[in-house]
Amino acid sequence: MSERYAKITGWGKYVPARVLTNHDLAQMVDTSDEWIVTRTGIRERRIRTENDTTSSMSVAAAQEALKVAGIGPKDLDLIIVATSSPDYLLPSVASQVQDLLGAKCGAFSLVAGCSGWVYALATASQFIASGAYNRVLVVGVEIISFAMDFTDRTTCVLFGDAAAATVIEASNEPGGLLAYELGSDGSGAMFLYVPDGGSNHPLSQQTVDERRQYIRMDGPEVFKFAVRTLASSLKRTIYQAGLAPDDIDLFIPHQANARIIEAAARQMRIPIGKFYMNVERYGNTSAASVPLALVEAIDEGRIQEGDTIALCAFGAGLTWASAVVQMGTGEISAAHSLFSAGRARFLARRTSDLVLDSAQSALLPLYTFLYQRRKKK
Ligand SMILES: CC(C)(COP(=O)(O)OP(=O)(O)OC[C@H]1O[C@@H](n2cnc3c(N)ncnc32)[C@H](O)[C@@H]1OP(=O)(O)O)[C@@H](O)C(=O)NCCC(=O)NCCS
Repeated sequence: MSERYAKITGWGKYVPARVLTNHDLAQMVDTSDEWIVTRTGIRERRIRTENDTTSSMSVAAAQEALKVAGIGPKDLDLIIVATSSPDYLLPSVASQVQDLLGAKCGAFSLVAGCSGWVYALATASQFIASGAYNRVLVVGVEIISFAMDFTDRTTCVLFGDAAAATVIEASNEPGGLLAYELGSDGSGAMFLYVPDGGSNHPLSQQTVDERRQYIRMDGPEVFKFAVRTLASSLKRTIYQAGLAPDDIDLFIPHQANARIIEAAARQMRIPIGKFYMNVERYGNTSAASVPLALVEAIDEGRIQEGDTIALCAFGAGLTWASAVVQMGTGEISAAHSLFSAGRARFLARRTSDLVLDSAQSALLPLYTFLYQRRKKK
């Protein structure tokens, strides 16, 4: 049997029409546009209207993705919906999406916080590589505003609602998903979580009175985890693909905070212009964040046929997930062949990165100390 590759052949998005700006939030909690922009890079985010549900937003994005791929819902072999904000606890929102689309295939939801869509992409590629399926719809969607405490300024300014969908198809031509890394560190679970509403602490009048159905977060801890993880996971995955960071045409990081992305770019010694950002317009849309950025990057002409892109998400769990993808249907890049100039660059860059990573880890406590001191001034 010839090799099978998983390629992204369709993409689409849906964002709610309602815009919530920093100025709007400043009327609701003790914050300011200046604070939010300087600490996060976010200027506005979308919030669901009364007509938007997780399933309806998924379907709108999926219909666009199917159109781009040139296939219909009945051509799908599987649907995976990554989300932490389904319409109901039961059934899985993926089954609602399957029904609303008019697809005739299996469907399941996947929960991995903001890393969900990248986890789902890696999962879809297994079904394709094994030969089980040829066409998988992978959706990242979130109505995260339902879990937001709009009296808590430390969280409500950061998040927004959105959906994005991709069609992943089998191909015998090399390309598509070249490498991925999935990670989890459950010891950090309580840094970003919803205290009540699960089986451990079902909702009651008391939990609602104490606002324990909303997201709680230790911002500085998550920030440190994100900066540590983004650059290191991206580099490991790029090397695993047999490439060096310079071979990547565009980086698509999780859009949580512009400062996290800037720190990762500095650590990787990659110009910030190579990191796609739309956090300014949407904030952190959790599982929808990376696919939404991917769709917008394609729509803006930032990604061309044959380009190699690197994606990385991180979030509740704590989880993280990275992927390297060659877009389009063309041949795999020359950097992959054993004795090319690309290969030599790969080896040289990997060695220098290993040395620099060790130095950076040793200096991290000093950076943290200096940052805290600067903030206190
Ligand atoms: C949340 C975050 C922006 C805060 O930035 P920070 O520089 O770490 O700021 P701190 O949390 O130290 O807070 C500094 C001060 O600002 C205050 N503050 C917090 N949110 C505020 C807001 N929206 N407006 C104004 N002040 C705010 C804090 O209360 C604190 O005040 P204090 O010093 O009097 O106690 C940052 O920690 C972050 O981005 N963390 C990662 C969050 C994330 O991405 N989560 C999702 C991952 S998927």
